[in-house]
Formats: sequence, C-alpha cells, structure tokens
Amino acid sequence: MTRHDRLIEVRRATTQDATQVTAVLVAAFVNGDLGPWLVPNKRDRRRMYQPYFGMLVRHALEHGWVHITSDGKAVAVSYLRGGGQVIPEIPEYDRRLSRIFGGYAEGFRALDAAIEAHHPDDVEQCYVQFLAVNPDVQRRGRGSLLLDDLHEYADRLGLPCYLESTGAGPTALYDRHGYRPRPSFRIAAGGPELFPMWRPEVDAGVRGTSVSAARVPARALSQWVEHPPAKSCSTHGRGPRQP
Ligand SMILES: CC(C)(COP(=O)(O)OP(=O)(O)OC[C@H]1O[C@@H](n2cnc3c(N)ncnc32)[C@H](O)[C@@H]1OP(=O)(O)O)[C@@H](O)C(=O)NCCC(=O)NCCS
Repeated sequence: MTRHDRLIEVRRATTQDATQVTAVLVAAFVNGDLGPWLVPNKRDRRRMYQPYFGMLVRHALEHGWVHITSDGKAVAVSYLRGGGQVIPEIPEYDRRLSRIFGGYAEGFRALDAAIEAHHPDDVEQCYVQFLAVNPDVQRRGRGSLLLDDLHEYADRLGLPCYLESTGAGPTALYDRHGYRPRPSFRIAAGGPELFPMWRPEVDAGVRGTSVSAARVPARALSQWVEHPPAKSCSTHGRGPRQP
C-alpha cells in the first residue's frame, strides 16, 4: 500500500460517474473467474462487457447504491433486497442481452437464473452485486475499504449482507470481512461454481459500536446512503493489507 492509497475515500457515485464505474467493472471482470465460460474470446468479452455493464450500472444508479473510491479505481454495486424488497427488472432485459451477446446470451441467462434460484429472498439484506477494483491497483486495500464502508451502513441499520463469490481469492477477502459460506452451486451443468456468502446482521454491542442494535426500517438505508455523514474513510488501518 502506497502513501497515496491511504488517502483514498469512498463516496456515492452519481450518473456522472457512470462511464468510470462501467470502465472499472469491465476491466476487473474481463479477467474474472466466469469470463472464459461466458465469452471465451477475451477481446469479444471486453467489447461485449462494455454495453452490458453500462446497462447494469445505469440501473444500479437508479435503483441501488453505487459507491466509488475517490481515485475512481474501485467500485461497489449493491441493492436492498429480500424480505419483500425487489430489484426492479431492467426494461427489455432479455432482448438487450441478445443484442449485446448474440449467441453467448444463453450463458448470461443461465447465470441470472442460477443466481435467482439460490438467492435468499426471505430476509431483507444488503445484496452486494459487484465489487470490482481496477487490475493495476488490486490487492492494495480498495476492495476492503468499499466493504468496510458498506458494512458500516448495514450494521447501523441491522442489515445482513449477501453476495456470490466467484472463487478462492474473493472468498478469502469476504471471509476476512465476516462473510460465511453457504452451499455453493453451479451456473449450469458443467458450468462454473458460485460461492454464496452471508454476513449476519451485527449485534452492535458485539462490534463495540455506539449504535443501537435496534432494527431500522429498510427504507432508512437508502436515506442513509444518500446522505451519509461527512467523514473521511481513509484506507489507513481499515483493510487487511497494512503498509
Ligand atoms: C476481488 C477484488 C474486488 C478485491 O479487491 P482488492 O482491492 O484487490 O482487495 P483488498 O486489497 O482489499 O484485499 C486483498 C485480499 O483479498 C484476497 N484476494 C483478492 N483478490 C485475490 C486474488 N486474485 N487472489 C488471491 N487473493 C485475493 C486476498 O486475501 C488479499 O489479501 P493478500 O493480498 O494479503 O493475500 C478485486 O481483486 C477484483 O476486482 N477482482 C476482479 C473482480 C472480482 O473477482 N470481483 C469479485 C467477484 S466475487
């Protein structure tokens, strides 16, 4: 971790950040664990991921929460989901998938179907859909910083968190941040495995915060995230990697 890394902060992304958020997602996931199965040719994958993540980012900016580090190199996309909270569908999603991916769209449909089938929708949660760090600064604390920030909000509201990890590297990171594994599943027969992980809602007393553990209505989370308290969230001392 460089001196610069320690000065990074997290803020809520706006529509003006859409291009940058998309660029980080593409750069991170073009080398991700699922990429070769979804779109085998890397050049095609990069080209197709651009409109795909662009579509998902615009949707998340409207219906979810998108956070970005102050250097624009790391992003987190999350939603309030479960316990009656539903993420609105992307208009004409299926047709847009076909247009973007052509013959590869089936893989994305299988991915979506598998994720949907295993999602724990009985409990309201913070669903971390994507965590992505630009490859040139991975393993320097930005992923942890974004998770810490998100967990701070979730903990204050007594919300559990849920995500699907794609492999051993991310799983190790999530484990360090309090996530515990749920039974894994495959995207399709012979397809890659996903590793769901659950971070239980926190008893504020156990974590030693001064925040009441009393449950706060879910809609308060969006208000909280829209108007977070002014604070600095430097990576110093927060991530697993220390100088
Ligand atoms: C996974 C990701 C978000 C982590 O962000 P990051 O800023 O690199 O993570 P941090 O620096 O906060 O934490 C690093 C720790 O995470 C784990 N880790 C992350 N990526 C890893 C990898 N590729 N291989 C092994 N361990 C990894 C390790 O425990 C690592 O600690 P170490 O370097 O001391 O071994 C980032 O690497 C990324 O964008 N990867 C590509 C996209 C992706 O896979 N996203 C997650 C999908 S579930």
